[in-house]
Amino acid sequence: MEIIIQPTAAAATAVAARVIARLLNEKPNAVIGLATGSTPLLLYRALIDMKLDWSRVTTFNLDEYIGLPKEHPQSYYSFMWENLFRHINIAPENVHIPDGKAKDIPGFCAAYEQRIRDAGGIDLQVLGIGTDGHIGFNEPTSSLASRTRIKTLTPQTRQDNARFFASLDEVPTHCITMGIGTIMAARSVLLVVSGEGKATILRDVLQGPVTPQVPASILQFHPSVTVV
Ligand code: GLP
Repeated sequence: MEIIIQPTAAAATAVAARVIARLLNEKPNAVIGLATGSTPLLLYRALIDMKLDWSRVTTFNLDEYIGLPKEHPQSYYSFMWENLFRHINIAPENVHIPDGKAKDIPGFCAAYEQRIRDAGGIDLQVLGIGTDGHIGFNEPTSSLASRTRIKTLTPQTRQDNARFFASLDEVPTHCITMGIGTIMAARSVLLVVSGEGKATILRDVLQGPVTPQVPASILQFHPSVTVV
């Protein structure tokens, strides 16, 4: 595990953006796993400014709320198109985001896993962490071997994310998320964490026991993780 500590979020973002730029340079048809949240937002702005060639890149997003239509401003679909995809030359057919309105959710989840396999697996998975140590929406007590599936959001995560909605009641209660096993199958992982509010959980992730109570702690067992 490579841990890179930077003095500001902007400096950390620049380091993380360079990791992705290097991958796209070495492998123009890379498969990249993407995350949402305020942390990757800075990273996506930096990537847009770098004017990289995304024409052969394939992406898979970690997660999506269940029940929000794609066009809802807080859907992760809207987040990704608004904050990254519409600003880069990615082919829309190469973009994959879980469908929070899928009628057959287990069927959709199995197909999502199959699409990742068909694409040759994920070369680099971008991650942030929730204040409870979740990755994607794999909340504490998630199975460390889990694959893409439906999950219930914890009260803490709903509270954390309520700032993006008009009220707490509007925050969805369920989501589709890649599993911890799906994330661990990525060939490399780029975890970006910033702010004092995440310091304690990041210590637990990097130096505490590996436990489903802190889902991101499993990354201690991944052979290729960069933490910025
Ligand atoms: C959401 C996402 C996670 C993200 C987390 C933290 O719960 N599903 O992938 O890491 O938010 O977001 P932020 O960076 O805004 O703290």
